[in-house]
Amino acid sequence: MIRAGVVGWPVGHSLSPKLHGYWLEKYSIDGEYVKIPVDPGDFEAGIRALAGRGFSGFNVTVPHKEAAFGLMDEVDSAAKRLRAVNTVTVRPDGGLHGANTDGFGFAENLKAGLGRPALPEGPALVIGAGGAARAVVGALMDEGADHIRLANRTAERAERLAAELGGPISIVDWDRRDGELADVALVVNCTSLGMAGSPPLEFSLSGLAPDAVVTDIVYAPLETPLLAAARARGHRTVDGLGMLLHQGRPGFERWFGVAPEVDGRLRARMVEALGQ
Ligand code: ATR
Repeated sequence: MIRAGVVGWPVGHSLSPKLHGYWLEKYSIDGEYVKIPVDPGDFEAGIRALAGRGFSGFNVTVPHKEAAFGLMDEVDSAAKRLRAVNTVTVRPDGGLHGANTDGFGFAENLKAGLGRPALPEGPALVIGAGGAARAVVGALMDEGADHIRLANRTAERAERLAAELGGPISIVDWDRRDGELADVALVVNCTSLGMAGSPPLEFSLSGLAPDAVVTDIVYAPLETPLLAAARARGHRTVDGLGMLLHQGRPGFERWFGVAPEVDGRLRARMVEALGQ
């Protein structure tokens, strides 16, 4: 029996067991994927113990992604860039390999949602400068984005992100975030605004070209006020749930040996689990 799981604190709300559980069943794999609550105070001992307990690997979620980065024996380029790890694989020698698949999940979700092999061509506007925005900006750079504009309420955070990631990034004033949209091909909300219980993101789409795409990393609700407004204007929209589903693929493949697919039934199950 192959064992994997998700490490977090708290971890009760994690949808990852449903995601990996679906794939385990679909591919008839003798494996399990469990929730592993690990207190931040015991993090290092907690994750080292998992390797000894026969785990093939595990996902890492809030608040441990940065701490996990510091404990890895080896990391992939995305983790190095983000200084955060969400996918850990126990190597045959017991060492820990850390990856960050959030950016991969973002790009794969967008391509799948649009039914295209590449992201929209033209400048992208990213709103937010937290961990999710970092992953998204990194993915856009990897996908060859020619220009990324970044708007964040706290300007210094956006400036730091741009300086740390390098790349073709310019900073847009928060108050002017929807000011110059005519050439923007893609708008990505990477803030928590629009999430159930949070106020919506105030953003006027009126300057956006009709063929521009709007996407959100928030997936509860599935259709955020931003996406609803974009859809009403006729823009193509992609919701954030797929980012969660696609980011799980590389870990599943590493631990369980099968490259899993994000199919319609999986999405329906996850929507049901979200209670929507
Ligand atoms: P994550 O790692 O999920 O990205 P985070 O690091 O807490 O989470 O980042 C949250 C993002 O939402 C930030 O860009 C934050 O802006 P600040 O850097 O100015 O805090 C943004 N955000 C959250 N609440 C906001 C609000 N009420 N108005 C504007 N931006 C908000």
